[in-house]
Amino acid sequence: MVQSSPETSPAKWHLAHTSWFFESFILREFLPGYRLFNTDFPWLFNSYYRSFAAFPEKRLRSSFSRPGLEEVLNYRQHVDEAIDRLLQSSPEPEVLKRIELGANHEEQHQELLLTDILNAFFTNPLRPVYAAGQPETKIGSSTRTETAGPLGFVGFAGGLCEAGHSGEGFCFDNELPRHRVWLEPYSLAARLVTNGEFEEFIADGGYRRSELWLSAGWDAVQQYGWRAPLYWTSESGDWSLFTLRGEQLLARVAAAPVSHVSYFEADAYARWAGLRLATEFEWEVAAAGRPATGNLLDSGQMEPAPSASPGKDQIPEQLFGDCWEWTASAYLGYPGFRPLAGSLGEYNGKFMSGQMVLRGGSCVTPATHIRASYRNFFAPETRWQFSGIRLAGM
Ligand SMILES: [Fe+2]
Repeated sequence: MVQSSPETSPAKWHLAHTSWFFESFILREFLPGYRLFNTDFPWLFNSYYRSFAAFPEKRLRSSFSRPGLEEVLNYRQHVDEAIDRLLQSSPEPEVLKRIELGANHEEQHQELLLTDILNAFFTNPLRPVYAAGQPETKIGSSTRTETAGPLGFVGFAGGLCEAGHSGEGFCFDNELPRHRVWLEPYSLAARLVTNGEFEEFIADGGYRRSELWLSAGWDAVQQYGWRAPLYWTSESGDWSLFTLRGEQLLARVAAAPVSHVSYFEADAYARWAGLRLATEFEWEVAAAGRPATGNLLDSGQMEPAPSASPGKDQIPEQLFGDCWEWTASAYLGYPGFRPLAGSLGEYNGKFMSGQMVLRGGSCVTPATHIRASYRNFFAPETRWQFSGIRLAGM
């Protein structure tokens, strides 16, 4: 039940809330005679669907000492059995669509479980290690070299392009409709910005130079006292990074992508480097048609890994996995965007204000969850997600 910051949630809450989604949007509507597991759960585990039910303040989730874990796991079993019954009753196509949405919703919470546990363990004075030992699978070169190679760039012609989901597979409402976009010629960095490179920005006074920052970003630096990415500490004089694999000396992970930076830090770094962040459409056009593979949750690494051979074959590396990439695009509806009907319309659409788009997934995103048209979004000061930096030019 640990909730280490207002933006994170306890693991027990994630378990209950993902069951709640199936009960609230599928079972209650489509399974005749469905019996609620507990008449308080519809509002207790509602996250933010105002048209569905009231809900407790998010920051109070750590106070849910009741129900206990056993009751939450029994809730899941109750919901699972009911979904089984519904599936055996030749349900209408809308039911199957909602179950697919529920599975994708749960994948999002699988990632949040890990980002929230990382935050909880970092906040714990004992700094527990979530995943001890060596990663199960090696991605790319994955040997921890002292520095990454020089940063190369891959050029793109731009012109009249298309963005948004196409084809038969699942997508969220915010990936539609597919539409045309115009892009000037551009280039993308062949890999993500590394921890070692970001340390140079810090050493060059990056956090003390107002000219590098957006106005709201400079305010955030002052307000939160930022002087490094989240989870960086320098108690012994040298920088260390805390990951799901425990405390890492910066020197050991200098070639791995920098993570847990806000949009403001990504933007300030790009300005310092004399470059910029890509728009979400530049990113999507570069990623379209490529296999959505990389250092994702299923690799077992659980932390960003160095790029193997950036820019080889004129393809940017690390497009999928490692870190979500902040883009310079505000999170808005595409032309002709229509949210889902009913309460589910609150899933994505109502957040289209004051947030920035991130692309590509992270080292804790389930591999089946990510695709080129996928749009993640967070407020620009957000740092607890695995969020990193890819530079763009021209
Ligand atoms: Fe949710």
